Amino acid sequence: MKPVDFLLIIHPAIAVIFIFPLIGIVSYLAVQTRQRRLQTLNKNLNKKKSKIFLVVGREHVLMGRLLSGSVVIVSLLGLAYPIEKNIIDNRLWSNNLFLFIFILIMFVVTIAALVILQKTRHKHWRGVFATLTGIGLVILGFQDGVFRRDNQWYMSHFYFGILAALLMIFSLAIIENIYQDCSNRWRSVHIILNCLALLLFMAQGITGIRDLLEIGRYKLGG
Ligand code: HEM
Ligand code: HEM
Repeated sequence: MKPVDFLLIIHPAIAVIFIFPLIGIVSYLAVQTRQRRLQTLNKNLNKKKSKIFLVVGREHVLMGRLLSGSVVIVSLLGLAYPIEKNIIDNRLWSNNLFLFIFILIMFVVTIAALVILQKTRHKHWRGVFATLTGIGLVILGFQDGVFRRDNQWYMSHFYFGILAALLMIFSLAIIENIYQDCSNRWRSVHIILNCLALLLFMAQGITGIRDLLEIGRYKLGG
């Protein structure tokens, strides 16, 4: 195993050890948050108080923030492996110094935008930094070396992963909208998009293992 292969292993390892359990926690808290809200709405009808703790909503958002940040970071790590391999194979620092520096800057800008997005509460800044994070991810995704499986996009680890990460970024961007919207429209949008994200995460488990097997077979010359 060469040092560059460490990047290949760290991505699925973080996904399996950290992200997938976190998805379980966030989903459980999501169901509890919804049930509590509906039970509280019906309180006057059946005169019973909800037995679900008041904090479930806050905990869901706390864990949700952690999940969305981790998914973006893990996607960047997934992209870092093929991009780094391409940089080394083509000696990019001497053949195309501009592109080499651009790629490095894009990694830094994307992570910085994600950090600011997590911190800022202002609606407009959330929009700006969510857009920056998303654009950074997409630009890095379309660099040479990334195996996108363009002609089989419907079973591509790349397209599903980028879409899942963009949905997580969108969830971060609309937190305040969910709380401020009395019509619950943002809440419904949030639920629909994140149920889609759950399906994409399942697909990532399957397509990721397939890609690992394919890389292994390729390296063994099979
Ligand atoms: C696995 C992905 C997720 C699913 C399936 C999910 C689903 C849900 C559901 C069902 C609710 C309750 C809606 C209701 O009251 O009717 C909810 C609430 C909420 N979610 Fe998520 N969510 C996910 C991830 C996230 C993430 C990543 C964030 C933020 C970064 C987030 C932020 C929120 C907020 C702010 C609320 C409102 C909480 C409250 O009313 O106290 N969610 N979500
Ligand atoms: C939260 C779940 C995950 C997300 C969002 C995600 C996202 C990504 C992204 C965006 C890439 C770069 C594009 C590509 O090369 O396909 C990537 C690469 C990769 N991922 Fe994942 N991934 C996830 C889970 C997994 C899992 C569970 C495995 C394996 C068990 C895995 C294995 C791989 C492999 C082997 C690569 C490199 C593929 C290559 O270089 O061609 N991923 N992932």
